[in-house]
Amino acid sequence: MTPAAPRRHRKAAAYLGALAGLSLALAACSSGGGSDPAAYPEDDIEVIVPFSAGGPTDTVTRMVAEPMAEELGVQLVVQNVDGAGGTVGAGQAATAEPDGYTVLMHHIGMSTAPALYADLAYDPVADFKPVGLVTEVPMTIIARADFEPDTFEEFVTFVQENADTVTMAHAGEGSASNLCGLLLTDALGVDLTAVPYDGTGPAMAEIVGGQVDFMCDQTTNTTGQITAGEVKAYAVTTPERIEALPDLPTTTEGGQPDIQVSVWHGLYVPAETPDEIVEKLTGALQVALADQGVVDQMADLGTAPVSADQATPEAHAALLEEQIATWGGIIADGQGG
Ligand code: MLT
Repeated sequence: MTPAAPRRHRKAAAYLGALAGLSLALAACSSGGGSDPAAYPEDDIEVIVPFSAGGPTDTVTRMVAEPMAEELGVQLVVQNVDGAGGTVGAGQAATAEPDGYTVLMHHIGMSTAPALYADLAYDPVADFKPVGLVTEVPMTIIARADFEPDTFEEFVTFVQENADTVTMAHAGEGSASNLCGLLLTDALGVDLTAVPYDGTGPAMAEIVGGQVDFMCDQTTNTTGQITAGEVKAYAVTTPERIEALPDLPTTTEGGQPDIQVSVWHGLYVPAETPDEIVEKLTGALQVALADQGVVDQMADLGTAPVSADQATPEAHAALLEEQIATWGGIIADGQGG
């Protein structure tokens, strides 16, 4: 048994204990609503989207935010914190109060950042708790409407023959559009001038405006422009054609089976967030993904909600770890590792 501390130390200890109790109570008040898991949520919840407003990740987030807000009885307020392929927003979420009032929506970029950013400010596994997967979005290869090639096969030949002048947009290193671009340039054996943006929302405006030639982007951002004829579309990066764009061939049909990628998305909270709060967020996410309005909106944009057993912390954590290993290997190979 440890000897009893002298009396003055006991008084100081009691005083410090009370002080600690007080600061906890103060922290509870200051961090946006109480942090009593049983009473959660008592305040609006901020959802960080690490890419620009109006882009594919923003679109998916706003789709599920509404029914989740209804289920939780508070507002989900989207905050676009873009930059550096999504690592700025993820870094901000990693250091947020672990009280459930800051949630991050991120995608495949969560699994590529460790291999691409030597000085990454967070660890995607240690600094976060997965809440659940949301959707897996196919990608499309699109170009400005007056780009010369008409078919995917012509696009491949044109890019290979004009690699010194063709420009490719993407949303920063490690972003989905960057990864797809890497798969494409690797498969075609070319080096292209890449033009980075903070999201494919602003990149799309430059494609439509003709300032940049092409990009590989998610159907949640391209379907509207493709069906409106504002951009040319060459291929979709999934094994099968998609219902929303039935006439768009797959990269495999076009003789490029290595250009295969789709973009999984998931919700995260800071690692210290109580499990009881994660359960409530997971529950609200599952309700949102079963909402017919969300199902229809996603179908119109070429994607679909994941199944309920995928919208769980366990399935999300398993995929994240697998993808970190997978992309770590691909990126290392690409860097000649
Ligand atoms: C975005 O929302 O802008 C995209 O997800 C960016 C990307 O990863 O290509």
